[in-house]
Amino acid sequence: MDNLHQLIVDRRSIRRYIDKPIDGDCVKTILEAGLMAPTSKNSRAWEFVVVEDKETLARLAHCKEMGAGPIANAPIAVVVSVDMTVTDPWIEDASIASAFMQLQAAELGIGSCWIQVRGRFTADGTPSEDYVRELLGMPEALGVVCVLTFGYPDEQRKPHDPEKTLWERVHLGQWSE
Ligand SMILES: Cc1cc2nc3c(=O)[nH]c(=O)nc-3n(C[C@H](O)[C@H](O)[C@H](O)COP(=O)(O)O)c2cc1C
Repeated sequence: MDNLHQLIVDRRSIRRYIDKPIDGDCVKTILEAGLMAPTSKNSRAWEFVVVEDKETLARLAHCKEMGAGPIANAPIAVVVSVDMTVTDPWIEDASIASAFMQLQAAELGIGSCWIQVRGRFTADGTPSEDYVRELLGMPEALGVVCVLTFGYPDEQRKPHDPEKTLWERVHLGQWSE
């Protein structure tokens, strides 16, 4: 795909994946996209944990009560975290890197889904961030924003419909109802 705008129109969250590993070069390209994302003051304080072990993926899928199911059937997941002691806009830095990785994956024909971790809780009320850090042996200083799942799509989703674009959310010159 050589048209970024078309890629943005076509990208959808993919939550079902075929049982096929992602080529190592593709994984590297996706991670590289995240590692080239802009950061506040160029702090680049991200830490990405790549998980491929099926058992660990299954446990990671319990990081919150609902909405984390896709992790269990993804061939690979990337836990996106940033050292909160290094940079205060760590959520923004993690989010931009995540979006870059998702777009890069789409360009490679690989589906992905953002699974929210920050601010969420497991079924027994444990903060999802604590659960993920504990499971993967990550230091307390790392704020975990999300888990990104990646896999070759096992579902077809329609591109975004330009007719449904929320142009009313754009205000020219000053706020208007
Ligand atoms: C901040 C954020 C949190 C999200 N959390 C989840 C989640 O926990 N589980 C999930 O299945 N999808 C999650 N998503 C994916 C959204 O549901 C999805 O992006 C939205 O419905 C729009 O669909 P699209 O990505 O296909 O355009 C999240 C997306 C964002 C940006």
